[in-house]
Amino acid sequence: MIITNTRGTQDILPADMMYWHHIETTARSIFNIYHYQEIRTPIFEQSELFERGLGNDTDIVSKEMYTFLDKGNRSLTLRPEGTASIARAVIQHPQLTKHNQAKLYYCGPMFRYERPQAGRFRQFHQIGVENIGNAHPFTDAEVISLGLHLFDELGIPGLSVSINSVGCPVCRPVIQERLKQFIGNTLKHLCGDCNRRFDQNPLRILDCKNDTCRTYFTGLPDIHKSLCHDCKDHFNSVVEYLDSLGVPFDIDPKLVRGLDYYTKTTFEIVSDKLGAQNALCGGGRYDNLVRKMGGKDTPAVGFAFGVERAVMILKEFSEIVKREDPLIFVAPIGFNQQTRCFHLMNELRRAGLKCEMDYSKEDLKSQLKIADKMEASYCLIFGEEEAERNEIILKDFKKRSQDSHPIDHIVEILTQKITPQ
Ligand code: HAM
Repeated sequence: MIITNTRGTQDILPADMMYWHHIETTARSIFNIYHYQEIRTPIFEQSELFERGLGNDTDIVSKEMYTFLDKGNRSLTLRPEGTASIARAVIQHPQLTKHNQAKLYYCGPMFRYERPQAGRFRQFHQIGVENIGNAHPFTDAEVISLGLHLFDELGIPGLSVSINSVGCPVCRPVIQERLKQFIGNTLKHLCGDCNRRFDQNPLRILDCKNDTCRTYFTGLPDIHKSLCHDCKDHFNSVVEYLDSLGVPFDIDPKLVRGLDYYTKTTFEIVSDKLGAQNALCGGGRYDNLVRKMGGKDTPAVGFAFGVERAVMILKEFSEIVKREDPLIFVAPIGFNQQTRCFHLMNELRRAGLKCEMDYSKEDLKSQLKIADKMEASYCLIFGEEEAERNEIILKDFKKRSQDSHPIDHIVEILTQKITPQ
């Protein structure tokens, strides 16, 4: 029986790679402009990192983590997201915050045991930024506008931004209490998760994906009225700075996001080109996470976006042109010419030219067929006669022409043809 990949995972094939490279290269260059540096953290961590960091009441921790015991009986988890690991790394490596701030970005696979559907996978990739150490509301506005800058540069259409504030430990109890008062009467109509969260973490009820539950959330009391002075000021400033940067956004009082570490600002960037799973990017401020993980009081704000979702949009709606170096196919005719061609291929590659040879074929006709299938731009033909004259034939498929050249000059000749002057 053939073994296939597991449900919710996918092979990313060469034909799609140009989208991935476009996204990764553009992200790196934009992050560089905003003075972020790359960090790579392990793909698995101690389970406690995510339990403590993300919150036990979240869907991610309670239902979606790939957790296992290793051979030493340690509970490990494949990372479901990047922020908790970054908080850990910042505590573990004080040199990261030697200027009192760390501006870090990451790219890589994340794992969540979710029900797979279009745009939702069990192994997916995120690219994210974490701005650690800055409490000023400029930072929230900068991070949101960085996200939009990146998506504009990538050529992703149909974007909109929603923002909210989920308060802080001072005003959160007031918000939770008002929510409980509002939701209390309808509790019997809500799902088991909502009922459980009602006592433990009422704000999380707003994150419920169940359509029936969501119908009961209309007319919700305005969270913003319960924010403390500091959170209100912060939110108003973020709104003002976004306006001043010309960033269009909507305020969505129900945007609590699926992770418990958020304080004050939460935001999402969605694309109307994505369908049901329309969230392209999510983020927010998490001023208490580093302290909760055992570090110092450290304000922070960041976001992550799903690369698969960005690829889905680009494939359908953008015209990224595939840029590939021309391929030279090297075709020796007969066994005796193979070794000379094998060495020539080595010289071409050392000169930076892309070439290929089929070691199993000796006749020209079948080699030209393969060159055609590989969409080669050139073919170098080397038979007995050419060997005697110390020459090689250069066939140009596009120009439909061919000439003989001294074999000792062919690398130079091809370099001049191919390398942009
Ligand atoms: P998140 O909203 O859970 O936030 O994920 C961010 C993005 O990852 C989503 O908007 C979506 O594009 C993508 N994503 C999430 N789950 C899946 C999935 N199962 N399949 C495909 N794509 C998915 C976080 O992870 C936070 N750590 C973001 C953050 C960084 N907040 C502050 N800093």
